[in-house]
Amino acid sequence: MASERVITVLGIETSCDETAAAVVRSNGEVLSDVIESQVKAHAPYGGIVPELASRDHLRNVRPVIEAALSRAGIGLPEVDGVAVTARPGLAGALHVGAQTALGLAFARGLPIVGVDHLVGHLCAAYLQYPESPSTPPETPFLALLVSGGHTALYRVDELRAAGIRELGATRDDAAGEAYDKVGKLLGLGYPGGPMIDRLAHEGDATRFELPRPLNRRDSLEFSFSGLKTNVARWVEQNGRPQSRQQLCDLCAAFQQRVVETLVRKSVAALEREQLRTWVIGGGVAANRGLRTAALAAAEARGARLVVPIPRACTDNAAMIAFAGALRLLAGENDGHSLEVSPHTELPQTTRKGRGQRPSAAG
Ligand code: KG4
Ligand code: ZN
Repeated sequence: MASERVITVLGIETSCDETAAAVVRSNGEVLSDVIESQVKAHAPYGGIVPELASRDHLRNVRPVIEAALSRAGIGLPEVDGVAVTARPGLAGALHVGAQTALGLAFARGLPIVGVDHLVGHLCAAYLQYPESPSTPPETPFLALLVSGGHTALYRVDELRAAGIRELGATRDDAAGEAYDKVGKLLGLGYPGGPMIDRLAHEGDATRFELPRPLNRRDSLEFSFSGLKTNVARWVEQNGRPQSRQQLCDLCAAFQQRVVETLVRKSVAALEREQLRTWVIGGGVAANRGLRTAALAAAEARGARLVVPIPRACTDNAAMIAFAGALRLLAGENDGHSLEVSPHTELPQTTRKGRGQRPSAAG
């Protein structure tokens, strides 16, 4: 971010179940941020149906882009470049955004860059919304990324894949995935995260004995599937909670275990990497329990915590536009070589289900 030049970027995001477009300046200023959620379309299925996602993206992408430009009060001629989520995500869904972005860029002769969705989530900490100005984090920092598809700790020296190192990730379910699976078990619908968060605030976590996930002190890896299995076992033995209070207590116990693990491992990573700035991103960063506990832990250590406003934590195109602006400012242009992929470009050292590769230990 050394550049003084400020450019205006149109961002497009279609990797999962939100069709989103935003206009953002390279100084982080968000001019518009439009999100069309497909949650209702997928809710009856208890999860995301890829074909439905592609169909709805096709239907929504054009009006969403038009709304983003109109709310920003600009036309395409005033846009300096296009950024689109190129990975990771559902292949069919990613294609809709990428083809639309390519069409726009070629028609207007604009540079275009593909953005890794996970780098986008880390960039949300830099967004400046008119209602909540904030001081952006300085590198190097520790990033805790907690979404529906990923849960990992990173050391971020630079905001591009080559400057990001994974310190530990989940060996099984992502935190958001565990929330959604527990939500389904408890009959709360999809996605379970926001609902469990709400119910947990009315509950007493001490009324349920649930084990703490992967308690090995020296590991920065996570595991949430055991915790989910324990909730499943409880439901098998007792049926769904009988009263609202029991439901709230169970949600509170589950949430406390997840939050406690996320915060404890983050603090261990801050110590190990000797970092003083801690950024949290991804859908689960909208969680009130996590935000409160993280702030207390950061204050206790004299570390600076940067968590985006809740709407910037969940999927959006403003974070994609900002991540793209960094590449565009550096003179990069993917042009015809833009490709989509279901996999992230961030280094992955944690093996699913099997622990860390020996070469990546430490
Ligand atoms: O980042 P995101 O919007 O999409 C992915 O890239 O995965 O994250 C979605 C995930 C879902 O699993 C959802 O249940 C979870 O974030 N989530 C929450 C909350 N809001 C969204 N989990 C816990 N508490 C919340 N308040
Ligand atoms: Zn996401």
